[in-house]
Amino acid sequence: VIVTTGLEPNQETLRHARQLAERFGLPLVERGDASLVSLRQRHGCEHLLVVTAKGASIQSAQEKPLFFHPNTAALRIKRLERGDTDIMLSVCQIQPGDTVLDATLGLGADAIVFAYAVGERGRVIGVESERLIALLVEDGLQTWQSDSPGLQQAMRRIEVLNRSHLDVLREMPDRSVDVVYFDPMFERMVMASSGIQGLRPFANDAALTEESVSEALRVARKRVVLKEGKSGRLHERFGLIPYRTRQHQVVYSYREALGGE
Ligand SMILES: C[S@@+](CC[C@H](N)C(=O)[O-])C[C@H]1O[C@@H](n2cnc3c(N)ncnc32)[C@H](O)[C@@H]1O
Repeated sequence: VIVTTGLEPNQETLRHARQLAERFGLPLVERGDASLVSLRQRHGCEHLLVVTAKGASIQSAQEKPLFFHPNTAALRIKRLERGDTDIMLSVCQIQPGDTVLDATLGLGADAIVFAYAVGERGRVIGVESERLIALLVEDGLQTWQSDSPGLQQAMRRIEVLNRSHLDVLREMPDRSVDVVYFDPMFERMVMASSGIQGLRPFANDAALTEESVSEALRVARKRVVLKEGKSGRLHERFGLIPYRTRQHQVVYSYREALGGE
């Protein structure tokens, strides 16, 4: 992967591109007037990270560009600020100061809502197995400018780990986080309008494994929570209890951690 900019970048875009390349140890290639096709050919890479005034994006030959965006998190945080509840936070029984392991970070919308809710004393660790997504999202979380201080501060607090969640969970001590949260790709196939469609070509769509769930139950102090599409049956396979909601697009389910609270 190489980092480059759009055509005729301004100073801010150049600074962002330099920072992105440095942070991840990637080569920065001056765009000049080269087309993306010729840059890909010249550097022998399938994907490019292209920085423009709209932020960084993954540009590949076959797919639409993928930009970071806080997606549903912006609206959900606005609602929380008005005093509404958020179903995901309720299922997870999130309290200020909690530590959450978001085992399937994706574009990070859920992680941002967790980070807002746990506040400055809390901690959100977002695990993403796919390098390009992890790069794009870590950069976006650190650089996205928002009019909402709550949203922006939440984004800045998320720690991104570019690893497979099973490897991360296996290394974690018993009862070392409050909640482990899974929102696997495979279980979201049916959700055409979920705002994660652009992610699909770059995402890991392997199914959630029994071992990951049992490691999560060991690592969590409170709960392990799963989000899946409305026709998902994973919760039955793993013995998770569905949380009844009026939001029919998704099913949240949970299981108390081993040893409970
Ligand atoms: C449905 S998306 C998550 C969307 C996310 N909750 C959000 O709000 O944007 C699932 C993500 O988990 C990642 N993933 C799948 N299996 C994984 C694994 N074993 N370890 C870490 N990340 C994984 C995928 O690459 C994908 O980016």
